[in-house]
Amino acid sequence: MESVNLEVLQRFIRLPGILLILGIAACSLTGIQTPIAKPALTVQPAQAPTLRSLAQSRRFYIGTTVNVNALRDEAAYSATLAREFNMVTPEVSMKFSETEPQRGIFTFAQADYIVAFAQAHQMQVRGHNLVWYTDLPAWLTNGKFTRAELITMLRDHIITEVKRYRGQVNIWDVVNEAMGDGTLRDSIWLRGIGPEYIDMAFQWAREANPQARLFYNDYGGEGLGRKSDAIYALVKGMLQRGVPLDGVGLQMHISLNSYPNQKDVLANMQRLAALGLEVQITEMDVKTQDDARPMQAKLAAQAQLYGEMLQTCLSVTACTAFVMWGFTDAHSWIPAFTGRPDYPLIFDALYRPKPAYFALVQALSQSTRVGVK
Ligand code: XIL
Repeated sequence: MESVNLEVLQRFIRLPGILLILGIAACSLTGIQTPIAKPALTVQPAQAPTLRSLAQSRRFYIGTTVNVNALRDEAAYSATLAREFNMVTPEVSMKFSETEPQRGIFTFAQADYIVAFAQAHQMQVRGHNLVWYTDLPAWLTNGKFTRAELITMLRDHIITEVKRYRGQVNIWDVVNEAMGDGTLRDSIWLRGIGPEYIDMAFQWAREANPQARLFYNDYGGEGLGRKSDAIYALVKGMLQRGVPLDGVGLQMHISLNSYPNQKDVLANMQRLAALGLEVQITEMDVKTQDDARPMQAKLAAQAQLYGEMLQTCLSVTACTAFVMWGFTDAHSWIPAFTGRPDYPLIFDALYRPKPAYFALVQALSQSTRVGVK
């Protein structure tokens, strides 16, 4: 109170409340100070909360994938990342083709860079991923190997990578996208080893780092339906067999005209939680390209989807993180993947927050959750 000029305070008090609120809102939107507040108020205006600060106080993780080149080259990228998030997933730097480009020769420089950034900024790292059907090095896809050789190669790969980041990477997507539409997807691992490659991968990851939480991660099984039933049956079977599985990642690559129903996502999270599993939304983005509405309407609809998905996750204690597959429209995998421009993320290409960003702020602000870290 002492540091506030009384005259100014009196002027504030005389203002009708609505004007004051409008003024503060205008200030925070434009970053412009009101003439009234300028001369004598020495009290610093409160910093707007960030996604990170809101998540942190709820012991929740808000995350994004990281493009290592943008992190190295763009100051706005690294500044926004550190300010808004407390969890990161390397976009490609920990994948098989990046980390073992030649048999038995491991390259971790890119992954190390991201992990060092995360440590310097007190962020958790989701290791992504150890076993996948794609992004494999040519020596592996072009070679001819016996079952025993494939088992040895996969084991060496997993043990080497997980051990390297012991104490730094506490969550791993051990197996990524193993499920097709109801049955296991064809892959070098399924063909060469058999369906037991999944159990084996989790056992090796646990052996390499007994502290890490081990996830099965997939897309298209976020709500209810054939694929999510198949994933549910897969993970339930793994638990019954004593496989060290701690959680399921729901990727959530959706679009404005194709997304799972909230109630189904909630029910799916709850049934996974009932198995004793942790759940995380791991790769959310919302494509806008197939929607004919004007941009403003599209961005509002996108915001609603982001907000609802976060709200759903926050309402389930077992859902411990909400991670997006990027944060700025300047760096999204969607345009390359679809061959068309898109705006799927929560900051625009100039790092300005979009309506979706504010929907996340609102969902976090309204959550009364006090989770477990
Ligand atoms: C994508 C990356 O974003 C691309 O840069 C890369 O070329 C291919 O992989 N599901 C996943 C992610 O689990 O690893 C994928 O990432 C996107 C879909």
